[in-house]
Amino acid sequence: MEFILQRQAPEDAEGIEALMDRAFGAGRKRRTVHAFRETAEPLPGLGFVARDRDGVLLGSVRFWPAALPDGATEPLLGPLAVDPVLRGLGVGRALVRRGLAEAQSQDWGAVLIVGDPGYYAPLGFRVDLVARMDLPGPVAPLSFMALELREGRLDDVRGAVTPIL
Ligand SMILES: CC(C)(COP(=O)(O)OP(=O)(O)OC[C@H]1O[C@@H](n2cnc3c(N)ncnc32)[C@H](O)[C@@H]1OP(=O)(O)O)[C@@H](O)C(=O)NCCC(=O)NCCS
Repeated sequence: MEFILQRQAPEDAEGIEALMDRAFGAGRKRRTVHAFRETAEPLPGLGFVARDRDGVLLGSVRFWPAALPDGATEPLLGPLAVDPVLRGLGVGRALVRRGLAEAQSQDWGAVLIVGDPGYYAPLGFRVDLVARMDLPGPVAPLSFMALELREGRLDDVRGAVTPIL
């Protein structure tokens, strides 16, 4: 299947919300990562959508800012969502890779994720990089991971990762 990736625009917001409801179902706003999205806006220029040739929205990735224990801000990946009828075609992976490439070119040092390790480990995310960091609520075992865009960025970082207030 052919799809194209585009930067997110403000007018995509409504379509993305509808996609999130279809992809995640009820209860998505009760998850620990949702706390990060209540006090801040998604990072500008890091969000991408996937569309088919007719312009129909197939997927979306956004990144929210997170405050690391060392006082710096780094991107938290998610939500990533792909239309349920179009899964397994590479759309999600392409969106993540595009977002990571953009984060690197914007000079961010690392990207955090709370997600399925079976999906994110092959994309380069590692549990060991955040072994000494905590989130402000419960998450599934091994689902908190990070990817360094700058080698050594997370060396010796330990403590609480919190939403931006
Ligand atoms: C997770 C999600 C974004 C994946 O999107 P997608 O476009 O279907 O994924 P891709 O086609 O890029 O990748 C599919 C590959 O990942 C694998 N995969 C998908 N989900 C997986 C999981 N939870 N664990 C391990 N592997 C997984 C598939 O088997 C496939 O592997 P293959 O290429 O070797 O066959 C999509 O299923 C989704 O929207 N899920 C609901 C929302 C969600 O959970 N988002 C992630 C948390 S932020």
